[in-house]
Amino acid sequence: MENTEIIDEKNIALQADFLPLMGTDYVEFYVGNAKQSAHFYKAAFGFQSLAYAGPETGLMDRVSYVIRQNKLTFVLTTALRQDHEIAAHINKHGDGVKVLALMVEDATDAWEQTTKRGGKSYMEPKKLTDENGVVVMSGIHTYGETVHLFIERKNYNGVFMPGFKKTESAYNPTSTGLLYVDHCVGNVGWNQMNPWVKFYEEVMGFKNILSFDDNDISTEYSALMSKVMSNGNGFVKFPINEPAEGKKKSQVEEYLDFYNGEGVQHVAIATADIVTTVKDLQSRGIEFLKIPMSYYSDVLDRVGKIDEDLLPLSELGILIDKDEEGYLLQIFSKPIQDRPTIFFEIIQRKGAKSFGKGNFKALFEALEREQDARGNL
Ligand code: FE2
Repeated sequence: MENTEIIDEKNIALQADFLPLMGTDYVEFYVGNAKQSAHFYKAAFGFQSLAYAGPETGLMDRVSYVIRQNKLTFVLTTALRQDHEIAAHINKHGDGVKVLALMVEDATDAWEQTTKRGGKSYMEPKKLTDENGVVVMSGIHTYGETVHLFIERKNYNGVFMPGFKKTESAYNPTSTGLLYVDHCVGNVGWNQMNPWVKFYEEVMGFKNILSFDDNDISTEYSALMSKVMSNGNGFVKFPINEPAEGKKKSQVEEYLDFYNGEGVQHVAIATADIVTTVKDLQSRGIEFLKIPMSYYSDVLDRVGKIDEDLLPLSELGILIDKDEEGYLLQIFSKPIQDRPTIFFEIIQRKGAKSFGKGNFKALFEALEREQDARGNL
């Protein structure tokens, strides 16, 4: 009897861990002009060129630029021909995230575990080999036309992966202190949040660690609902938003409208010094949402004592929130392309593991001012 219980516990542990993830491997954007996007991310966010694939490396229909800053790797990809699925993707969605690539020990097993649980295959396990070793990759579909790739690179010591050549650039801007992907948020359609929560639970073994309903996240005009999904070790977190009824069009609806469907709303990037990072980003032309000074008049009553001076936070528009374990500092950029779709969050965690629920109202009101200025509220 006791033995059976032990076996059951082991089984449960094994089941909970059927998709061990070591973190985000890279985020790939499909963009209208990959060369210029790579330059923009380098100049504005402080990335360095890392690798390139295109006709010169034998890839005849597309180009990809790989850029890196600390543990943050972005891939900017575009099609070279009109009649191409990437061109169709860009035409429909504008610039946006196509791939959230996850680092795994075993990409073949990751594909088998997820597809047998109902995940729709995007890429069967395939081995890419060059003189630096082997990368195994596989993938499944998630919301909209977004996909997850599983990247196994334990037997590879090249600069990125086979098919890419190392890039030496004459332009090497300094880092802005961006460290790694903290979380990536998806916007899904009406009544689609729970089906996608179920997908992450059942297909990928994630857990729903936080939920927000329209009472938490609503303003006079609009509302949204959100559930935060996390993998077992907490390295990968995917909050899922859906719109909720409000007096006017919500920001999630505006996104769905301009992206033509579901997709990644924002990528949150960690820094160890948000004031320095945000000052640097602003000086490079990145625009952030403005927060009214009234937010700062009582914020310390809500969050308690913090290490930072309030003045620079208020001047920059950095938001503060707390949970049982500590506090966090966060700020949201304006959309980084012409369509009001994807944007970035910069986040510094000082113990807090949450997502800034206490800031949602101030944030939403700021977003709605922007939406109103675009005539979409
Ligand atoms: Fe976020």
